[in-house]
Amino acid sequence: MRAFKITSLFALAAIVASACGAAAPTGDIKVAILAPLSGPVPTFGVATRDGALMAIEEWNAKGGINGRKIVPVVEDSQCTPDPAVNAANKVIDQDKVKFIIGEVCSKASIPVSEIANSKKVIQISPTSTNTDVTVDKTGKVKDFIFRACFIDDFQGLVGAKFALDTLKAKSAFIMEDQSNAYVIGLANAFEKAFTAGGGKIVGKENYTGKDTDFSTILAKVADAKPDVIYLPDYYNIVNLAAKQAKEKGITAPFMGGDGWDSPDLDAKAADGGYYTNHYSPDDTRAEVVGFVKAYGTKYKDDKGQPKTPDALAALAYDASNLLFTAIQKAGTDDTTKVKDTLAGLTFNGISGKITFDASHNPVKSATILKVSGGKVVYNSTVNP
Ligand code: PHE
Repeated sequence: MRAFKITSLFALAAIVASACGAAAPTGDIKVAILAPLSGPVPTFGVATRDGALMAIEEWNAKGGINGRKIVPVVEDSQCTPDPAVNAANKVIDQDKVKFIIGEVCSKASIPVSEIANSKKVIQISPTSTNTDVTVDKTGKVKDFIFRACFIDDFQGLVGAKFALDTLKAKSAFIMEDQSNAYVIGLANAFEKAFTAGGGKIVGKENYTGKDTDFSTILAKVADAKPDVIYLPDYYNIVNLAAKQAKEKGITAPFMGGDGWDSPDLDAKAADGGYYTNHYSPDDTRAEVVGFVKAYGTKYKDDKGQPKTPDALAALAYDASNLLFTAIQKAGTDDTTKVKDTLAGLTFNGISGKITFDASHNPVKSATILKVSGGKVVYNSTVNP
């Protein structure tokens, strides 16, 4: 029944267009979703895919973009450079997509952006927060590359100010994965802002994303007795390190960034910790309430309970709606025109209002969340 309704809507759009004698654009609009469905952080991929698919379904139910149906092409890009590059080449060269939503992880989005930009394919990363996603090494903006999230300079500043002003922290210990561009960028931004605000970094230790035993670093943390431990990594690493810290009797709270956001974050291990994020499902704005309800109606967890959309779902939904609005406004899928329309758009998303600065970065507020009593609870909002 539903399929029939959608098909007839598209047929109607075509009839109306031809009756008016207009040379309406025809054919489906393919959109690639590059998301880490496997690899170290699969919840990032599932939520991103589902948020984007929900937006696509809603647009198609309304007749698509100017009468053209949106067709998703989903690829598992694994939060890892090589698979992400392969996926990007596949969707561009074989599937002939002109639009990419993704990747999630900065270290995968950066190499994808080089390919997309050189082939005039528009890429909007919903969630990659590292500066280098939209700007090349010489400081030049990549014309066809955008993102729907704030960047880590802002995120690190918000985290540092919260540590100093609210937690009254005077000292911090930083743990850093030297193989992850996101972790390095966010750790640097935090350090800069924390020391500029009068805080002291009492230790800084490196590991790699493959490490599972953090005891050597945690012994140094125990000696340094910092007020906070800054660990700006993804939830899989946070789960391991925070659990081992608790076992060692370390009581200083962990702090981190958006990478913590996952239904699989170990809330017991990370209890007492704080992280900066893009959105909270507890936000009472009408659009957030409506989105949380619609998402939970569409997607269920393994117990059959409504899924709560995390920041990845919300930003993938926003990135998709942003792209479709730009294509509709441009009246064409010519990517040179669509990117110009995108650059000048003002868009009210679930994660807040999006307008782009000169580097194609939205200027947006950040949310601070606390891990408490086995749950993640809203703490506060910080405006740019
Ligand atoms: N910001 C992270 C990165 O750039 C990705 C991420 C965003 C992860 C939001 C979780 C939630 O790598």
